[in-house]
Amino acid sequence: MLKLVKPSAKYLQSALTACSEFMSNPSIFQIQSIDEMIQILPDNADRYFYKLYMEENGINLKLNYVSQTIFWLVDDEEYIGTFALRHNLTDYLKEIGGHIAYQIKPSKQKQGYATKGLLLCIGEALKIGLEQVLITCKENNIASYKTMQKAMLKMGGREIEPSITDGQKNHRIWIKTQERHNGTIRPLALAIITKDNKILANKGYDTKKNEWFYRLPGGGIDFCEKAEDTLKREFMEENGIEISVGEKLGIVENIFEFNGKKGHEIALVFRAFLSDKDMLKDKIPLLEPEFEGCFTEFIEINSENKIYPQEALDFIKNN
Ligand SMILES: CC(C)(COP(=O)(O)OP(=O)(O)OC[C@H]1O[C@@H](n2cnc3c(N)ncnc32)[C@H](O)[C@@H]1OP(=O)(O)O)[C@@H](O)C(=O)NCCC(=O)NCCS
Repeated sequence: MLKLVKPSAKYLQSALTACSEFMSNPSIFQIQSIDEMIQILPDNADRYFYKLYMEENGINLKLNYVSQTIFWLVDDEEYIGTFALRHNLTDYLKEIGGHIAYQIKPSKQKQGYATKGLLLCIGEALKIGLEQVLITCKENNIASYKTMQKAMLKMGGREIEPSITDGQKNHRIWIKTQERHNGTIRPLALAIITKDNKILANKGYDTKKNEWFYRLPGGGIDFCEKAEDTLKREFMEENGIEISVGEKLGIVENIFEFNGKKGHEIALVFRAFLSDKDMLKDKIPLLEPEFEGCFTEFIEINSENKIYPQEALDFIKNN
């Protein structure tokens, strides 16, 4: 069975064979965690396992390094490849590196292992509280780019502007760690920001119902994040603006269908406020709109505009 495991003596023999394989294929691009494995594991397995333990627990990290967990992808007893999961991002990792780096041993490449392993590693990212992960690769790394795209198609996510490091372009894709409508209930924070009889909302399109709709701005609450902070973070990530958050108006349970799939959310709804400067605008650009022409915009509260979750509007009708 294919699974991700923490490196251990159980798989040592197979990993050592893989080290020889990596070493005899030096032309194949090697990620840093493979270089370290080749350098330490063959002579000193205990030191290698100890180093990984220290890195995972953030002990004596090198300057500008973050905690990371190394997984071995194994098929039954056989080592197949390495996946490095960084627990958070630095400015550098946002440009190149991302949350997850991976390498499959040469004899097992082109058999779907990276794609399957990446999905397993995304599952591990969810366990440490990451709602989405950034994956990057150099522009000429076609295999890795395809692997990232396949994971994005399965899980949902979005590709963002490539970064440029050392004069080279890097593809960057954010991938959700939880399929949005996969049978789990999602905790959300949503903002109610009003101006006259208008409310701030994001425009969306349902490809199955063929209809435009509006959704209150906000997003999924990260593990150990206060819901008020979720709203501030989401506005900064989505629109690049600061907001202030006021009183909690209430809680809404939203069971819905989007693009033919069922969804179930529990949303904490807050009154929130734009800065005076942003309040003067009718439309606030989204940094990465899902469709051309989509904005966060003030729209009329009336029966023609479908605004979701509808129940959240009751909080302002009654106020
Ligand atoms: C990138 C890498 C992990 C892909 O591993 P893999 O197990 O061969 O990938 P998969 O078999 O899951 O294939 C994923 C896709 O890439 C394609 N692919 C794999 N190797 C390819 C190659 N050399 N050239 C073009 N496409 C390739 C596959 O055909 C598949 O696409 P498809 O489904 O459209 O056919 C592997 O090539 C590797 O270890 N490279 C060196 C390390 C590296 O570059 N890591 C990424 C760091 S960002």
